Amino acid sequence: MADVPRDLLQEIKRLEDLFTVDKAKLKKITDHFVSELAKGLSKEGGSIPMNPTWCMSFPTGFETGRFLALDMGGTNLRVCEITLTDEKSEFEILQSKYRMPEELKSGDADELWEYVADCVQQFIETHKLTDEMDTLHLGFTFSYPATQNYINHGILQRWTKGFDIKGVEGEDVVPMFEAAIAKRGVPIHLTALVNDTTGTLIASAYTDTRMKIGCIFGTGCNAAYMEDCGSIPKLAHMNLPPETPMAINCEWGAFDNEGKILPKTPYDVIVDQDSPRPGQQAFEKMIAGLYLGEIFRLVLVDLHDNKNVHIFEGQNIDKLRKAYTLDSSFLSMIEEDPWENLSETKDLFQTKLLLSATHPELELIRRLAELIGTRAARLASCGVAAICKKKGYETCHVGADGSVFNKYPHFKQRGADALREILDWPEKKNPKDEDPIEILAAEDGSGVGAALIAALTLERVKAGNG
Ligand code: GLC
Repeated sequence: MADVPRDLLQEIKRLEDLFTVDKAKLKKITDHFVSELAKGLSKEGGSIPMNPTWCMSFPTGFETGRFLALDMGGTNLRVCEITLTDEKSEFEILQSKYRMPEELKSGDADELWEYVADCVQQFIETHKLTDEMDTLHLGFTFSYPATQNYINHGILQRWTKGFDIKGVEGEDVVPMFEAAIAKRGVPIHLTALVNDTTGTLIASAYTDTRMKIGCIFGTGCNAAYMEDCGSIPKLAHMNLPPETPMAINCEWGAFDNEGKILPKTPYDVIVDQDSPRPGQQAFEKMIAGLYLGEIFRLVLVDLHDNKNVHIFEGQNIDKLRKAYTLDSSFLSMIEEDPWENLSETKDLFQTKLLLSATHPELELIRRLAELIGTRAARLASCGVAAICKKKGYETCHVGADGSVFNKYPHFKQRGADALREILDWPEKKNPKDEDPIEILAAEDGSGVGAALIAALTLERVKAGNG
């Protein structure tokens, strides 16, 4: 950064101090995380919901049958037909994606369920599925925090990921969905309501028995793992055998909502205050794809408005002032651009924001993207390390999915580096060696995972343990 003017250099230094989370801090966060996981399982509860999901076993790989899966994630709606074949751990999938219209996210419940049911009906009619099967068993991946008293039940605790649909919070989403489907006369039975993390855990374990945790690093950020019922005091009244497994959807996005430990910057505070649910999802708002571009945008606006810093001087930054105008793929593109000339970044700013950036400004922009992306990956690893510590896993595989994990440059490596620091692993002798705990790309949790959970549920019901 040879020719970067002093004011920008000073700002880069300030941003580095603000956004860097060192090893000691990572360890502190992880330790606090471990105790918060336990608190969430207690009768009194804590800020992390730790929702029991009634998914009570890992698959064997020998599950069979045809299922429908509906995935309502955050960005898209997906409907799939999944066939679990006789071949061990094999499946076939047929799927269609529908875009979730932006206005639906702040509309009302009826509009949501009508739209969802229309997509399902369209899928079934296009593929003529009702001719082939009597009742279609559906695994519905509903990726929001829900209280489940049994597997085809789920009271929405609160919307996350920027959703704000009236009339759903505090209600069981299953009858709402079923009513919209019944109106259309489609023969569907909702067999299991599933979180995307639980689906990811189960789908990953279907093909790799070392998988112990399922994570999503996408629009939102969350994880699920298998707990023993004996370690879930809030389920004590159910008298379940203590060694019975129960998948827990952590909803760890809510970690540190009380603001005790996360190193929040003033920009994180603004993201929170301007969101539909201030005070919620503190951890998620520093990590998930929905927010990374927004944090980045807020920093740039702040620098431009600061009289002592000269960035985009004399230019109209109206486009940059629009909230949520940049998503995490914008940061991905910046981080993919070779440091040498940053010409892609220059073009991006020109075309998307009508801003002409000088080379020193481009260097600041690039460094800022790195800082935000690195902080996200490092904080995310605290959650993974915390589950492993709680469960005593010294080695395991973690299945991860989501746009940030799959597409954001260096996210995996940065996460792995942070795990090494937190868990004090020695340096690898050979770069090809596996780490004791590896975060790997997962199988499709919201499709195959949901179908598997529906299959496991039917088996449990058949065995009389429904
Ligand atoms: C949000 C949701 C959670 C989901 C995650 C990833 O955190 O609350 O249920 O698993 O996003 O999609």
